[in-house]
Amino acid sequence: MSLYDQIGPIYDLIYPGTAERVPFVRDLLQSLGVSTVLELGAGTGLYLHPLVEAGLDAEGLEISDGMIAAAHGKNPELVFHAQDARSFSLGKRYDAILALSSFFVVLEEEDAIGACLRCCLEHLNPGGYLLAELPNHDVEIAEMDGRQEVFRTEDDGVAVIIQSWASETQWNEDWHVFESGPDGFSNRSVRCAEWRFDPAAMRARFEAEGLVMHRHWGDLLGRPFEAGRSPRHVWLWRRP
Ligand SMILES: C[S@@+](CC[C@H](N)C(=O)[O-])C[C@H]1O[C@@H](n2cnc3c(N)ncnc32)[C@H](O)[C@@H]1O
Repeated sequence: MSLYDQIGPIYDLIYPGTAERVPFVRDLLQSLGVSTVLELGAGTGLYLHPLVEAGLDAEGLEISDGMIAAAHGKNPELVFHAQDARSFSLGKRYDAILALSSFFVVLEEEDAIGACLRCCLEHLNPGGYLLAELPNHDVEIAEMDGRQEVFRTEDDGVAVIIQSWASETQWNEDWHVFESGPDGFSNRSVRCAEWRFDPAAMRARFEAEGLVMHRHWGDLLGRPFEAGRSPRHVWLWRRP
């Protein structure tokens, strides 16, 4: 069972804020004249489902059966390709590919990112877009290192404590999940880790693979990027 299989059923509890970021992504895609979309690591469909509802022909690529099951629990019609983003082959091209919620640094190492970028290029129409949302670790780590956050369902059936901490090479979230069910109490812990990347080297990597930077924002609300303040790097790349 993969890491994300274990947190699929409770993933949406941790990310209530995604709904407010969806309009920027939807409006951007529509303004670019995009109609076909592939979301890498589409998870429980927090972006995919509303994008499909908005009329985009959007599909997900996802490695975790548990995340796909959680997405299908909300909308059984969502199209998922159960493949690995480091080696996917779908035999078709899209107008845009999305890699949101830190997807590239969840892959954790540079060679895997390069392999994924090459797959993206093979699946983008000429002139197609790659929208990558990455953390601005300088800001996030300064704010969150050593902090705990608590999430719980209204009925207190599930409580999750997330402890965030930095190591030299990784930014870690330890999820401690406590549940009460028909068979009594249970608890489990999983670690979601991101690779602490160098944004300049990452940009150079995208460029080396043949992508061209088109726009850059500081979050998925569309605010401009400010190095010491923005929580995210939001990069819109174009395949020439
Ligand atoms: C941080 S979650 C983001 C989910 C979703 N994009 C969102 O924003 O809510 C990362 C997702 O990427 C998936 N994932 C991780 N490695 C993957 C890989 N190599 N290929 C495909 N999906 C992968 C995980 O299973 C998980 O659903």
